Amino acid sequence: MSTFQDYVDTFDNESGYLNWAAFGPLSPSVREEVFADADLLGNGRPSSLSLVWERVGQAQEVVAELLGGDADDVTLQPSSTHGLMHALYGLSGAVIASTAEFPSVSLTLERASTASDRALTPRWITPDDGRVTPDAVAEALDDEVTALAVSHVDFRTGYRVDLAALREAIGPDRLLIVDAVQSFGVIDVDYSAADVVVGHGYKWLRAGRGSAFAWFSPRARERISPCSPGSPGPRPPACSWTSSPRPRHRPGRTRSAARTPSRRVASRSGCATCATPASPRSRSASPSTSTPCSRSPTATASR
Ligand SMILES: Cc1ncc(COP(=O)(O)O)c(C=O)c1O
Repeated sequence: MSTFQDYVDTFDNESGYLNWAAFGPLSPSVREEVFADADLLGNGRPSSLSLVWERVGQAQEVVAELLGGDADDVTLQPSSTHGLMHALYGLSGAVIASTAEFPSVSLTLERASTASDRALTPRWITPDDGRVTPDAVAEALDDEVTALAVSHVDFRTGYRVDLAALREAIGPDRLLIVDAVQSFGVIDVDYSAADVVVGHGYKWLRAGRGSAFAWFSPRARERISPCSPGSPGPRPPACSWTSSPRPRHRPGRTRSAARTPSRRVASRSGCATCATPASPRSRSASPSTSTPCSRSPTATASR
């Protein structure tokens, strides 16, 4: 049976290392598993590849256990910023966020707004001390607000928001999108107030880069249109692996004429990039929460 001392002994890096909030040196077990998986991937046997592939399900289970959620609601991501992109590029309406947020929240929100032709707009708040309190959020609320995006633990100050109080402030219908990079795996948290939680294992979990995730509650999945089907994910009928998206600028067309229509327009007419017709949900959902088709991975590419 392993003891606390066994665990302490796994901290075999140089003593005095304190920069865990930036990067957690990989634990011995992670290093062993990474090398073993690299060997399996190197031999190319189908059985080896499936063994490594099984890691996906295992990782989903572990993340779900730490989150107190369901493994089916966990997606694995290259980074937590990717997870935030999936949430924010699939939303419309106004999203409250602090100007003091880590750029993974603030810059992604800004870029998602531009890419959506302002169907999504940031509702910036600049609270005292950068603290996202329920009062600071309540002041910024109006009918256009569809979500709050917030770091659970602030990367500069270590301030920890009260997720349950923020949920109470925004009410039951808006989405609470939580960047848990600075808290995941190091403090016990009740994430049940959140609709989206993103995190990464390269800090406190000592799991290395590329071990990120995004968890979407069933309600979040109803409201957020997927940005990308992912490599082994469900394939929308109109986006086959063999068909490429249409070029953005065709010869003889002006730049403005060739632009992908705004996502608001796309929601009414279908997706211009992958030619997917408008879904019944996007036709019927309320404008403040619905988002047009963004099924093609390029639908959200920078303009
Ligand atoms: C609060 C916060 N969010 C996001 C990130 C970036 O995470 P990732 O590298 O997974 O995109 C960091 C990195 O320090 C962070 O502190």
